[in-house]
Amino acid sequence: MRPLIFAANWKMHIPPAEARAFAKHFLGSVPLAQGRTLWFFPPAVSIEATAEAFRERPDIHVGAQDVHWEPKGAFTGAISVPLAQGAGAVGALVGHSERRHVFGETDEETGRKVRALLASGASAMLCVGEKLAEREAGETEAVCLRQLRAGLAGVAADLWSRVLIAYEPVWAIGTGRNATPADAAVVHRAIRAELGRLGGPPGIPILYGGSVNKGNAQALLAERQIEGVLVGGASLDPAGWAEIVTTY
Ligand code: PGA
Repeated sequence: MRPLIFAANWKMHIPPAEARAFAKHFLGSVPLAQGRTLWFFPPAVSIEATAEAFRERPDIHVGAQDVHWEPKGAFTGAISVPLAQGAGAVGALVGHSERRHVFGETDEETGRKVRALLASGASAMLCVGEKLAEREAGETEAVCLRQLRAGLAGVAADLWSRVLIAYEPVWAIGTGRNATPADAAVVHRAIRAELGRLGGPPGIPILYGGSVNKGNAQALLAERQIEGVLVGGASLDPAGWAEIVTTY
């Protein structure tokens, strides 16, 4: 079986006590399996509880949903990479569409965050994706590759092994309307080619995200370009999420 990555983005849900209960339920139904890596991205306040609860499982990684690029300072409300690491995170999402389009994060800021994570020994899951109007204007590839180049600008060659990419079309996030496996594959191929041009080694995982659920996960993962899924809504219920990660 080819290795697959299942990543849960809990967004602004699941406080610490619920995270512990989730983990207990989940661990009971998802045994450690070869070739399957799991990521959980809880809200910052639940990172420590989640990391603690999954401590015994080498296949499960916990990450932050966002980080600031500075290691410390007067940035009220933000968390730095060392703060996230201190709570048990080993990586973070960067440039999630809600950070870009709700909070106004720029391409340049995503690059700073990726560099800060990699420099601190953490992983970076860089999210890229086009808005509906951009897709309709035929700009999907241009947008995703621009976000990719900016997010990975200045990444030293020896740090690429901690980079992951998630292609998440904005129109598919939380809408119940997922990209078809074939649509996603086109963008994944373009991303893969661009990673090569940027000097990335082969094997950087490219995940798909956007309305992944029990009903479509299998078909999406049957597409070989899709090496994992990043899931919001359908990752909030431990039984449902366990079913998705064990479908394959
Ligand atoms: P969704 O969110 O699965 O609820 O569409 C995915 C994401 O935002 O990462």
